[in-house]
Amino acid sequence: MNITVVGTGYVGLVTGACFAEMGNTVTCVDTDQAKVARLNQGEVPIYEPGLDAIVQNNHKAGRLSFTSSLSEAMADSSVYFIAVGTPPGEDGSADLQYVLDVARQIGQHLDNYGVIVNKSTVPVGTADKVREVVAQQLDERNLDIAFDVVSNPEFLKEGAAIDDFMRPDRIVVGVESPRAREVMAELYQGFSRNHDKLMFMGVRDAELTKYAANAMLATKISFMNEVANLAERMGVDIEQVRKGIGSDSRIGYSFIYPGCGYGGSCFPKDVKALMHMGDEFGYQTDILCSVEERNQAQKHRLYEKLSERFADGLSGRTIGVWGLAFKPGTDDMREASSVTLINRLIDAGATVRAYDPVAMDEARLQFPDTVFAAGKLVLCEHQYDALADADAMVLVTEWKPFRQPDFNAIKKLLKQPVIIDGRNQYDPYSLKAQGFDYTGIGRDR
Ligand code: UGA
Repeated sequence: MNITVVGTGYVGLVTGACFAEMGNTVTCVDTDQAKVARLNQGEVPIYEPGLDAIVQNNHKAGRLSFTSSLSEAMADSSVYFIAVGTPPGEDGSADLQYVLDVARQIGQHLDNYGVIVNKSTVPVGTADKVREVVAQQLDERNLDIAFDVVSNPEFLKEGAAIDDFMRPDRIVVGVESPRAREVMAELYQGFSRNHDKLMFMGVRDAELTKYAANAMLATKISFMNEVANLAERMGVDIEQVRKGIGSDSRIGYSFIYPGCGYGGSCFPKDVKALMHMGDEFGYQTDILCSVEERNQAQKHRLYEKLSERFADGLSGRTIGVWGLAFKPGTDDMREASSVTLINRLIDAGATVRAYDPVAMDEARLQFPDTVFAAGKLVLCEHQYDALADADAMVLVTEWKPFRQPDFNAIKKLLKQPVIIDGRNQYDPYSLKAQGFDYTGIGRDR
């Protein structure tokens, strides 16, 4: 099939590349001409394992191209994915201006029947708005062309995007017309060959499914963080509790890892957007509100633990931080717990030495130049450099090279053998036996 994907951000680029990999011809559109030029040279602007190869191979094979002209892209295709950003507005609601702008342009260039697919995470009712905008443009052009608007939310995770897209648990498609349903079934045929992964439902059902999935996962995490904070006060090891409850298949092991809060561009944004939808529809979402509040507070736990440990103050101290990305496998630092911790440490007069396997360039953009110039934040070349003469080490992101480090080397480097483990990666009993002053999340006895 010939497909147009508008927006070459995370979701758009992965969607375009994976459909091309399945043998389709895909044109990706982005208004950023410099980005389009780079992509046409095979340069992938985001860090995502495996994406470079898929983009380059399919580009070479002529199945994947990039342009900044939507009309040019639309000329050959009849399926148009909208995968542009929906950033949070001041009040937490999803800002639809980019989605509706693309809808307007599609309406200006549509010449034959087409299926417009909302791939971006958009509030319930957005497909109706897209339909209205397209219809208005067709009216203005005095054209009576049939089209459908479909909701096809994406469930991929950063760092595992290709695998998630290629081998999805399910493909949710909200569709109202048999004609569009047929197009979507054909489009996803290759992904559903062994098992039928396609789930057809109403458009609004699909729109809410996306938010409910992210909000449920965020709820599991905040719930576990709450129980972990309680466990600390009760002399309980949350890791034992986690295993104990995860073994119940109704609860399951995933997304019950306590830690220093969830980050990224999706959970925080989507929980807030769903709360906002609650307000709009006259329903107070108390659970979501608590999920969000727990997470905000949880991001401060590492700083609080350091303050408790260094009761005479953090001013003048040096703290070594391992991990800056919001999770392993990405260079994304949006809403990362590391940012909350580092800002609080700098405000308290401490110096931070930090290391991340891939997010160092991103870290340079996240903090103001003055912080680097004043030597308040030092980005180190190697994970062990970050610990030189530090009063404590804090693990924020559980990258693999941090999981089994050389504890003898760590002990020699640190001024004091203090480890604060924000992701419960280390064995407290073994570390205490090695002479470390160890604090995890929900496991302090
Ligand atoms: C999330 C969802 O998992 C995807 O299914 C969804 O498609 C995506 O949002 C989206 O809406 O686009 P992502 O933001 O890439 O994916 O990251 P996750 O792997 O879900 O992790 C989110 C955060 O939760 C991370 O900060 C992670 O450290 C934290 N987390 C995760 C925990 O604190 N505990 C856990 O048990 C699991």
